[in-house]
Amino acid sequence: MKIGVFDSGIGGLSVVKSMLAHKLFEEIIYYGDTARVPYGTKDKNTIIRYGIEAVEFFKNFELDMIIVACNTVSAYALDEMRESADCPVIGVVEAGILACKNSLEDKNSDILILGTKATVNSKAYEIGLQDLGFTNLNAKATGLFVPLVEEDIFSGEVIDATFRHYFSDIKSSPDALILGCTHFPLLEAELQKYFGEKTQLIHSGEAIVEHMEKEFSFTKKHPKTSLKFFASENPEALKRVAHNWLNI
Ligand code: DGL
Repeated sequence: MKIGVFDSGIGGLSVVKSMLAHKLFEEIIYYGDTARVPYGTKDKNTIIRYGIEAVEFFKNFELDMIIVACNTVSAYALDEMRESADCPVIGVVEAGILACKNSLEDKNSDILILGTKATVNSKAYEIGLQDLGFTNLNAKATGLFVPLVEEDIFSGEVIDATFRHYFSDIKSSPDALILGCTHFPLLEAELQKYFGEKTQLIHSGEAIVEHMEKEFSFTKKHPKTSLKFFASENPEALKRVAHNWLNI
């Protein structure tokens, strides 16, 4: 399979990392819209327009599938992207919801959803989780995590202060924490430390891989995936980050 992976910036690389670990694909074309990141502060129509433009970009590559490795775009633009694409388009929000279904037995589990402002405002996770019977849901927009990750800041004083800023009103650690933005897994270690081992972290990359392995019968593993990286601005910077994060 030759697939396209799209994010507003470098966050979708956390999804590529899971894909490489599971050796699912022969070829991955990554596109980050680095000229226009962040998407999480934009309005619905803008996010839809950017999503459709990404589909147009991918038409140069004869893909088997497009993975929207961005929760913000998955929450708003999937239908429109599917209409203009000539291959299946899969989003990470649905996969994250299914991951909760598969890993949380208790419907009263206390679930905290973290995302960008746009994702949280869409209520996409809440609607999907309520449909599955989950009732104990809270959501927090933690958009500052996006520029921190884009700046390569994953731990230290600034992260500690940002956690205090967002989380000081949380009295007890949730049973599950949905990392509802593909930038957030880069802060996974610090988030796990902050909330403690009891909190289960739900990660878009792992969720989409699990979803795809269930949905499609992969008969062959690909120990070596061909990777190509594109960005709407400064592709060299994106390639540098990709090489560091993905150890390639
Ligand atoms: N990585 C994107 C997501 O999963 C959002 C980052 C942004 O552009 O605000 O929502």
